[in-house]
Amino acid sequence: MAINVLVVGAGAREHALVWKLAASSRIGRIYTAPGNAGTQALAERLPLQATDVDGVLHEVSRRSIDLTVVGPEEPLARGLADHLRAHQYPVVGPSQAAARIESSKVWAKQVMASAGVPTARSIACNSLAAVMAASDEIGLPVVLKADGLAAGKGVVICATEAEVADAAQMFLVDRALGSAGETVLVEEYLQGMEVSLLALTDGETVVPLLPACDYKRVGEGDTGPNTGGMGAYTPPKAVDGTMVEAILRDTIVPTLAAMRAEGVSYQGVLYAGMMLTETGPKVLEFNCRFGDPETQVILPMLNADLLELFVAVAKERLARFPALDWFSGACVGVVLASGGYPGAYTTGHPIRGLETLPEGGVVFHAGTRWRVHDIVTAGGRVLTAVGRGPDMATARELAYATADAIDFEGKYVRRDIALRELE
Ligand code: AMP
Ligand code: GLY
Repeated sequence: MAINVLVVGAGAREHALVWKLAASSRIGRIYTAPGNAGTQALAERLPLQATDVDGVLHEVSRRSIDLTVVGPEEPLARGLADHLRAHQYPVVGPSQAAARIESSKVWAKQVMASAGVPTARSIACNSLAAVMAASDEIGLPVVLKADGLAAGKGVVICATEAEVADAAQMFLVDRALGSAGETVLVEEYLQGMEVSLLALTDGETVVPLLPACDYKRVGEGDTGPNTGGMGAYTPPKAVDGTMVEAILRDTIVPTLAAMRAEGVSYQGVLYAGMMLTETGPKVLEFNCRFGDPETQVILPMLNADLLELFVAVAKERLARFPALDWFSGACVGVVLASGGYPGAYTTGHPIRGLETLPEGGVVFHAGTRWRVHDIVTAGGRVLTAVGRGPDMATARELAYATADAIDFEGKYVRRDIALRELE
């Protein structure tokens, strides 16, 4: 029987999810809430904000949606998955309580401490004086993190006492992030290569996806401000199967067990942001969802039916799912952003070249919308251009050829995505 699916969210991550789900042999109708101009070719757009929990619930019941997949963290932190499960609607995404692994960095640290998971040392602070004392104790440089959800704006790396004071002032006094910055973590600064390891779990069985690396800074050579992500690739050669198993065993599995010991079961994707330090992999952060742009490079590598996999997660049947098979090459994704992003930028510019992509190149939409007969830009991150190939060099060439085939006013692309893998 065909399965109707709703994908909640509007980014390139959600377009990639829709694209992979659409390839399933059992897929029925696909809906997005709200989706973008790219998902519209494959899915019906429901004019709902991703955070509109009541609206989503209403549509799921009205349209006999069999499975809901939640992309962004915010609806999860607002309890969307709880509401759906309370009505027996299958969902891929953790409960509000479990989503605290992302929505409260202080709680995440407590869970990691009780699980004995390797992570940066940290001290939770509620006042400027406490932050200064904690920074003194940990030693510069330190990282200041807002406890709550901050859409990527909650982390400040501080090299000097003055920077610590400024960041603490911004979070605790000026309340730049509202209540998300009421409590601040002062954290030890870790050095190394960053890797994202995402795992699917139905509450019991845990299945890792391919490790991936994303690029958060806007400028080449990791310069300039943080963004939602400027590109990604998989698999990094520094992370072999043994290291994936080690991160699973030492980090993801004990974290899920510690949550369960507190009565919090986890169903969905757990994303471990890891730093590969000289003393081993350590957790930088957990996310309660798929990564963006990691998802855009991981899903094209999956040789399995994503819909069946998601049904297994939602129905607690992951133990019986066949071992995941992956394409043996590499995949690279580069983000096409609006000029000025992550600062001010303009939108409404027609996007040209989407019909004439190089063979094999794939484009996932983020900030795009239809304007009469044109697809136009509608956000900071506009598209992710993706190339897959037998090796990283080929994948990278195709990703950039695809990115270069597309044009819009002010288009900005970081040119060094996956470059370090070729050196
Ligand atoms: P997060 O929002 O927690 O992913 O942090 C954003 C980025 O800040 C991470 O991807 C890292 O590049 C950096 N970061 C976070 N925590 C640390 C840390 N303890 N040491 C060094 N860099 C960090
Ligand atoms: N790629 C980082 C994130 O999804 O949070």
